[in-house]
Amino acid sequence: MAKDMKTILVTGAIGQIGTELTALLRNRHGADRVVATDIAAPPPAVAEAGPFERLDVTDPDSLKDLVRKYKIDTIYHLAAILSAVGETHPDRAWRVNMDGTRAVLEIARHERLVRVFVPSSIAVFGPATPRRDVPQDTILDPRTMYGVTKVAGEFLCDYFVRKFGVDVRGCRFPGIISHETLPGGGTTDYAVAIFYDAVRSGRYTCFLREDTRLPMMYMPDCLKSVIDLMDADFDRLRRHANFNVTAMSFSAGELAAEIGKHIPGFRCDYEPDFRQTIADSWPESIDDSAARDEWGWQPSFDLAAMTVDMIAALRKKATENRT
Ligand code: SER
Repeated sequence: MAKDMKTILVTGAIGQIGTELTALLRNRHGADRVVATDIAAPPPAVAEAGPFERLDVTDPDSLKDLVRKYKIDTIYHLAAILSAVGETHPDRAWRVNMDGTRAVLEIARHERLVRVFVPSSIAVFGPATPRRDVPQDTILDPRTMYGVTKVAGEFLCDYFVRKFGVDVRGCRFPGIISHETLPGGGTTDYAVAIFYDAVRSGRYTCFLREDTRLPMMYMPDCLKSVIDLMDADFDRLRRHANFNVTAMSFSAGELAAEIGKHIPGFRCDYEPDFRQTIADSWPESIDDSAARDEWGWQPSFDLAAMTVDMIAALRKKATENRT
């Protein structure tokens, strides 16, 4: 693949999406053209794979220094406090999510960056939103601090597009399932943990009720959505940082049953905790036709295909760890 000359900075680069997106971007553009940043220390594999800098996204001066030092022209801003941790630490969620996003947007404006990616989430929706096939343009009714910051973030991104001509893009991610790096403190994390426990011990205790149905997406589709949206022709986009995207919807019970087809005797128990209230405020399924129309969004993995792939990957990992 021909490498273009982008110089990219990723925030939250050792998080669930950040780890895999950074590796993908390094493949595409060259390792030295992608600067990974995170507030936490990197695992050796990330530190050795290309440039890494410790960064607190609420500190705009440090961010600006890095943008200048590496002549950055594109930022993927993934650093955020997710829904469950955000309910335990709402002040921190506000600070990291709002100050971080605003710092990225201001720097994009003043340093004349070419493009910025700022993800949103299904957490922008709530009880007043339709529960099924949520339309693109609908009532936003967040009930978590995470959701509040994502709603404000979407509007702030739009403001920067219209007022200052900054090219900001983003989608409303559903739960993301992956086997590389664990998610950090979301409500949909059960859909990752269930696979780890199923492969390890054949049992899992779920913190949501069996009938809780949420929109989800497998990591390869998540990465594809980011790349496709960032590659889209700006003139074709009528929206910017709030595209609905989804790939599948299932209940915790349906996921357990699907896993049971591959791990006979798998047992899932249900002990809902405070995250049930968050999940109950979110919709079951999403209509992502605007993303399909405006930038050709098309997911590849459904529940069956994702389950086969996740179990194979985690079994391989378990074997490698034993040898
Ligand atoms: N996965 C996120 C969470 O559960 C939703 O965007 O917080």
